Amino acid sequence: MTTEDKTARLGAVYQAENPADVARVYDSWAEKYDADMSLAGYRHPAISLAILARHVPKGAKPLLDAGAGTGLIGEWLAITGFGDVEALDISSGMLSVAERKGVYKALHQAALGTTLPFADNQFAAVISAGVFTTGHVGVEGLDDLFRVCAPEGIIVLTIKDALWQSGFCARIRELEAAGVCTLIDDTGPYVSMPGEEGTTPSRCIALKVM
Ligand SMILES: C[S@@+](CC[C@H](N)C(=O)[O-])C[C@H]1O[C@@H](n2cnc3c(N)ncnc32)[C@H](O)[C@@H]1O
Repeated sequence: MTTEDKTARLGAVYQAENPADVARVYDSWAEKYDADMSLAGYRHPAISLAILARHVPKGAKPLLDAGAGTGLIGEWLAITGFGDVEALDISSGMLSVAERKGVYKALHQAALGTTLPFADNQFAAVISAGVFTTGHVGVEGLDDLFRVCAPEGIIVLTIKDALWQSGFCARIRELEAAGVCTLIDDTGPYVSMPGEEGTTPSRCIALKVM
């Protein structure tokens, strides 16, 4: 794939108007995604894993990788001592690549922002990297994560800073005031793809579920 192809794909993802469009773009990108993101110097998986490991004890289980994509995080979770992880993603193509890696206990095709196919309090922790971003999932994707994450559980999310400033932060403050969660970590803004021209900042946060 040329640099122009990759830039076009990223542009198509950011401009997608609905979840079906997002899924289509990722379905067609899936086989090249890992190589492209490696070239772009994609940092979200490493940073979100570092934040998770700061707050979640080794071996905690089960974990949910929400918007797991091709399973970059699943691979690294397995290496670092979190071996019981389920994957959820809207794109069947991305999940097919993830499945081949053999690092998830189960894979689920479903959309954040809808009621997820899990029991209340099912997960000890949730990690989601590169999903709460332009053209993907907004603050509406948060609510059901609180239902499926157990009390005292940890939710680690990367968030495009523009979303954070335009409502996400305010929603977290509301949830804190309502006793739903506490913001326990926040990296502040960083660039998720230093090899990709024009990338705008994101941040990674950790929430403790009450
Ligand atoms: C930039 S990729 C990140 C994948 C993986 N977490 C990583 O860091 O490599 C974004 C992923 O979010 C998924 N996605 C987008 N909107 C979604 C939604 N509403 N529900 C679930 N997954 C979604 C896409 O299919 C894609 O796999």
